[in-house]
Amino acid sequence: MNIILFGAPGAGKGTQSSLLIERRKMHQISTGDLLRAAIKDQTPLGQKAKSFMDKGELVPDSVVIGLVEEVLQKNKQSVIFDGFPRTVAQAEALEVIATKLGLSLDKAIFVDVPFEELKQRLVGRRVCKNCGAVYHVQTKPSQKEGVCDVCAGPLVQRPDDREEVIVTRLKAYEDFTSPLKEYYKKLKKYHEVNGNKASEEVYKSIENIIQ
Ligand code: AP5
Repeated sequence: MNIILFGAPGAGKGTQSSLLIERRKMHQISTGDLLRAAIKDQTPLGQKAKSFMDKGELVPDSVVIGLVEEVLQKNKQSVIFDGFPRTVAQAEALEVIATKLGLSLDKAIFVDVPFEELKQRLVGRRVCKNCGAVYHVQTKPSQKEGVCDVCAGPLVQRPDDREEVIVTRLKAYEDFTSPLKEYYKKLKKYHEVNGNKASEEVYKSIENIIQ
């Protein structure tokens, strides 16, 4: 079973992916994580992506499509696509890649969260600089402030979680990603979960869909 998890920034795609990895041994392909790793390693792709990500804009389709195709050569089983596709052009490209590689795209699950809640989640999110574990200053604080519970690394705010950048990210979601709902409805792959509940509740809804 391969699934696409999509939704607005802060909808909880990463949080749900972590649970699916832990409990169902699935494999996550997060274009956001891949791009941040490329920036950290200062690769040419990372340098290209950084200017878009810092502003909260989408990285060009050609860049992310190439990245995903490369990663998919290594693994085609039990994949969670997290944050990809994000445009209809990316969704169409993924269908072509999937056919080429013999990969099934079984379900596209939209995680629905109201905009006001998304802003609170993003502004308060903190991530571990070392291991990437995700926290929230109010709803999921670390035991010791500013220190990761998992690896004791420093917790930082993502550069694109500043309020002024969040506005641009939400706009990009509305303009380019929300049309994917119609796209997957037409393909009869569309499912929706209410993401405005506790993470465990959201997880149960996702599990019901993929069982
Ligand atoms: P990316 O890293 O993919 O960011 P995003 O889609 O904006 O999603 P987030 O990681 O912000 O949120 P999430 O849904 O994973 O939520 P999380 O679980 O962390 O992309 C970053 C950038 O890279 C983009 O802006 C773009 O520039 C570029 N990019 C990436 N992919 C691209 C593509 N395909 N094409 C073009 N450009 C691309 O949760 C958020 C917070 O909420 C956390 O603090 C968490 O603890 C909390 N939380 C989670 N679930 C709950 C819950 N149920 N209740 C309460 N709090 C919750």
